Amino acid sequence: LIISTLVVLGIADGDDDNKNYNVTNRPFPKGFKFGVATAAYQIEGAWNIDGKGPQMWDDFFHETPSRAFDGSNGDIAVDSYHLYKEDIRCMEEVGVDYYRLSLSWARILPDGTTDNINQLGVDYYIKVFEALEAKGIKTMVTIYHWDLPSALHSKGGWLNPDIINWFADYAELCYKLFGKYADSWITINEPKQICHGGYGIGAYAPGIVSNGIKDYICAKNVLLAHAKAWRIWDEKYRKVYGAKNTLVIDSDWYEPSTNSKEDAIASDTKLQFVHGMYGNPVVNGNWPDVMIKNVADLSRKQGFNESRLPAFTEEEQKLLKGRIQPIMLTLKITSCIIAGTYDFFALNHYTTYMVKARTQEILTVSWDDDSKVDIYQKSEDIWKPAAIDWFRIVPWGFGKLLRWMRKTYGNIEIVITENGVSDKTGILKDQTRIDFLRNYMSHMLDAIHEADVNVTAYTLWTIMDNFEWTLGYIGKSGLYYVNRTDPALPRIPKDSAKYYSKIIKTKCLID
Ligand code: NOJ
Repeated sequence: LIISTLVVLGIADGDDDNKNYNVTNRPFPKGFKFGVATAAYQIEGAWNIDGKGPQMWDDFFHETPSRAFDGSNGDIAVDSYHLYKEDIRCMEEVGVDYYRLSLSWARILPDGTTDNINQLGVDYYIKVFEALEAKGIKTMVTIYHWDLPSALHSKGGWLNPDIINWFADYAELCYKLFGKYADSWITINEPKQICHGGYGIGAYAPGIVSNGIKDYICAKNVLLAHAKAWRIWDEKYRKVYGAKNTLVIDSDWYEPSTNSKEDAIASDTKLQFVHGMYGNPVVNGNWPDVMIKNVADLSRKQGFNESRLPAFTEEEQKLLKGRIQPIMLTLKITSCIIAGTYDFFALNHYTTYMVKARTQEILTVSWDDDSKVDIYQKSEDIWKPAAIDWFRIVPWGFGKLLRWMRKTYGNIEIVITENGVSDKTGILKDQTRIDFLRNYMSHMLDAIHEADVNVTAYTLWTIMDNFEWTLGYIGKSGLYYVNRTDPALPRIPKDSAKYYSKIIKTKCLID
């Protein structure tokens, strides 16, 4: 009876493409780890307290409050600057192995440069790390989760190549200050959102609209900043502290809309524009071939003198490719491999799109059109919506994306650094989140067992409802509800907190 109830639950997620799917009873691999994630601006508040400098999201919402759907901002957020012990208490209650948190650049370096270190900001993070250590919770530390100090934005931000050194200096300082506390490092979170969101469509800070031009310039600088910071870690700090370091890439799944060869190619092309745009450079040192080809072709037809996609010089490609690693068979070096600038792949995944090859050429200048495909989502009765409108619930897309990564990049370790679902209510009986977790994780486990995908950890977004960027406090994705009408901002467990806790204890999805 229990099993058949779960079979029904598996089907009952409103997804017709999932009709015959049974939630798996396969175990999590040995040593598999579970965590939760947050980001500084979304939780800390204290935006101008104890010497923190302004960052571009502070300005973005202060200048135009309507940029957040509810007119809010992260000035107070959930006040983790003062309530971090509460957050850690929740994590302890759930029993997570690790906490993925981000450092605020402007809290540590108010004007963005290492000339002026804010000791109170540094002390704050040390207090958080020590409190986590006391509870035996490991850390995954993101150096940059979108909050660029305003002083650096006014010098051109991610469009100015100097940012490669600004970021590398900041990252090196973080390694020195917090190296002994960080169990793993993430240099930069979701370059696609930083660049396309911030400099392409302008929906995100700093709100620049230049789709298909400045987002590419940003992407090049983000990748080189990551590579430089990663190399500094690799060469100077890895032997001291031993932690792994990587870039977080977000990717949706793009499902071919028919069985045709054209749609299969369209799906792969779109994935190359989304995941490959950042994945290929850190593995192979350059943009994916299809991007180089498409953007050059369209740029020419659009009357540009050269491709809108900035090329990497040979020197830059070398930087991206990482170190040369000798392979020793017996006691002799037999060959060398290029290791890339990653220690594992970090994936944020939420949703799926259908994709169709384009039959007619469109000459609009935009990143979206450069892939020469059309995308759409199925209707809301088939793919249930979450509060974040574009995040439809499509569990099987997760498994397909993981299989695509295995096929495209080979047997690389993958850590899921974000996955989760939002609702608008913060309701404590959050069955939608429980079903989401069960079904998404089930498809992940199938990919691990059936396709030998090497996923070693899963990080749920997020521990408590917090500030969801332009969605303000409307999109609630937490395991804990935060009562914003109470000035003490209490964290109250939802049913999903108990469910996630049970998965962590039993290492099994079936209850
Ligand atoms: C991606 C981002 O990294 C995070 O900041 C955001 O809140 C979640 N996804 C949910 O949208």
